[in-house]
Amino acid sequence: MPDHQFADHDLAALYDALNPRSGDFAFYQPMLMAAESVLDVGCGTGSLLHWARESGHTGRLVGLDPAAGMLAQARRRDDVEWVHGDLSTVSWRGEFDFAVMTGHAFQVLLTDEELRTAFAAVRRALRPGGRFGFETRNPAARAWERWTPGTVWETGSVRSWNDTGPFENGCVSFTTTYESPDWDAPRYSESTLRFLDVPTLSGFLEEAGLVVAEQYGYWDRTPVTEASPEIITIARLT
Ligand SMILES: C[S@@+](CC[C@H](N)C(=O)[O-])C[C@H]1O[C@@H](n2cnc3c(N)ncnc32)[C@H](O)[C@@H]1O
Repeated sequence: MPDHQFADHDLAALYDALNPRSGDFAFYQPMLMAAESVLDVGCGTGSLLHWARESGHTGRLVGLDPAAGMLAQARRRDDVEWVHGDLSTVSWRGEFDFAVMTGHAFQVLLTDEELRTAFAAVRRALRPGGRFGFETRNPAARAWERWTPGTVWETGSVRSWNDTGPFENGCVSFTTTYESPDWDAPRYSESTLRFLDVPTLSGFLEEAGLVVAEQYGYWDRTPVTEASPEIITIARLT
């Protein structure tokens, strides 16, 4: 497995402080709590599953992520299964009531082939009646235009900002710089995210044998519109 942007343990340790939640955890929490077994794909630092356990979830919680640095953070709790990998490396069959990808982790799936592999793996991993919740930023809202060096995040002595390239072939690439007076040199991470529109997303879901049970444009459950920031989808097995 290739090394990953979040393999850096120091940057992974800063992730939660630099990425305050925007309503996503509160949105998914009732679905997690109602599910006996949950798979969090691209679980990162594991904060969603930590929160589920702290909120009283007593069933099976599994977090999957390819970044060693992120999983090192997640492993602060040992009452959750943490798996190093991605949906191309797993073989779960009919084991989960709910699968989730949040923090826009879904947007790291860049190619059509990666998307097909991911949806097929989620489909196999779900039990009959199982559901898959994930969100992707609405391309029509053009969020990347605000990812500029003028928008700075700070935690402790660390400052971070993005330098973002153009929207090309449905994707946007950006470099995140992390700077601190306590470090000899800045650190950098390179990212590319794909932005799918609703019709394209629907095509992949249908091909995978998944149907849209619910879809929203924001965490307050308002519908998807031209201006809505998110495309939040709860899909279920056909
Ligand atoms: C923006 S973070 C979101 C983390 C977490 N879900 C959250 O909400 O805080 C994206 C995560 O996706 C993981 N990731 C990268 N490539 C992936 C892939 N192919 N499959 C699953 N996860 C991946 C990264 O390591 C990272 O932890």
